[in-house]
Amino acid sequence: MTLPMQKIGPLDHLETASLDELRHEQLQRLRWSINHAYTNVPFYRDAFDKIGLKPMDINSLEDLAKVPFTMKDDLRANYPFGMFATPMEQIVRVHASSGTTGKPTVVGYTQKDIDTWASVVARSIRAGGGHAGDKVHVAYGYGLFTGGLGAHYGAEKLGCTVIPMSGGQTEKQVQLLKDFQPDIIMVTPSYMLNLADEIERQGINPHDLPLRLGIFGAEPWTNAMRQEIEERMGIDALDIYGLSEVMGPGVGMECIETKDGPTIWEDHFYPEIINPETGDVLADGEYGELVFTSLTKEGLPILRYRTRDLTRLLPGTARPMRRIDKITGRSDDMLIIRGVNVFPSQIEEQILRIGELSPHYEIEVYKEGNLDCIDIRCELKPEHGSADAGERGKYAQKLSHNIKSFIGISTRVDITEPGRLARSEGKAKRVFDRRK
Ligand code: DLL
Repeated sequence: MTLPMQKIGPLDHLETASLDELRHEQLQRLRWSINHAYTNVPFYRDAFDKIGLKPMDINSLEDLAKVPFTMKDDLRANYPFGMFATPMEQIVRVHASSGTTGKPTVVGYTQKDIDTWASVVARSIRAGGGHAGDKVHVAYGYGLFTGGLGAHYGAEKLGCTVIPMSGGQTEKQVQLLKDFQPDIIMVTPSYMLNLADEIERQGINPHDLPLRLGIFGAEPWTNAMRQEIEERMGIDALDIYGLSEVMGPGVGMECIETKDGPTIWEDHFYPEIINPETGDVLADGEYGELVFTSLTKEGLPILRYRTRDLTRLLPGTARPMRRIDKITGRSDDMLIIRGVNVFPSQIEEQILRIGELSPHYEIEVYKEGNLDCIDIRCELKPEHGSADAGERGKYAQKLSHNIKSFIGISTRVDITEPGRLARSEGKAKRVFDRRK
């Protein structure tokens, strides 16, 4: 589908600049970003000083390889605001995502960062064929998660009318899709399939809705799923990528002309692919772990952040900037359950908070219809092995309640007698992800 250019409006200058101009601009911005992080964030200063590196040693984009990596745990160690590079008075917003245990990862934005973020999301919606005057139904969750508010500000910036529905309330979502007649929906792809079921259940033919574009992300999805959504809904289904630590949604977005993987908005987020074992930088086209360096962020500059997402960098097509291929997996054990990031260690932490339960447990993830489900099986400690069904039910309820309130996901919990779960002879295999 192509729309007349006057409707879509002109692209940003750097979106169409030559690679030479882009690389030149990236280097200037990289120098600024490294200097900003080194000067204002003790974590970065220490990391540089430890290896005798100075910001002025970075004189080319290749020199970035000298800079140490930043990990999710580094943000956790500096919880909540220790990675911020500006005084707190200049931080106008915080968001948070799952940490590996206990404390979440906190990110902060200055007003300029919020403006940049809105611009890259506006650019993303435009890359999908959206334009001023479109109605955008946002069904990403609002709150600490970056999805809802990120999409919201971007759509407003483009001149769209935003319907800030947030997640959940499936029947009401469908009512609004019918009554408010949005042109664009922004939601996780798995929830879109759930909405499609509900639309059909309500006796509506999805093709009769004026919806023409879906902007889907926050979890991995396949081209087969794209085809299913496009056929069932009669819309274009495009992939938006992002992560809180780097900004939120809109780090990259697929262009409607080519539908061949998100274009990374490289004028703000510099991508590298590394070998996750050795940390060596790999050539474009090779599969490895995606790493990002922010080029313009003030509140939380991030240098060589290891996303743990496995993919490869591909040459630009619809734009000169590079694309990423579909995310094929992760180099850590993070699960994404209905768009919520969950580390098995977070679940373990909740199990161990209940004194009667032992550290033997299994996590099983599967699909029920289009939705992710998670079952947890754990054992009583031997000294509590005689607990009857009623008591076991109470522990299960408590665990499920704690997981819902601390991690934000619904689980089915089964508590068994001691010794019932398989014991491993080496590395314990605790997570069984049957969605693949
Ligand atoms: O999920 C930001 C976002 C919101 C992106 C809405 C797109 C749409 P986090 O909660 O920090 O941020 O989770 C980031 O989600 O490292 C990937 O593993 C995964 N992810 C995000 N987008 C995609 C995508 C948001 N398009 C983590 N395809 C990332 C595959 C994705 N995985």
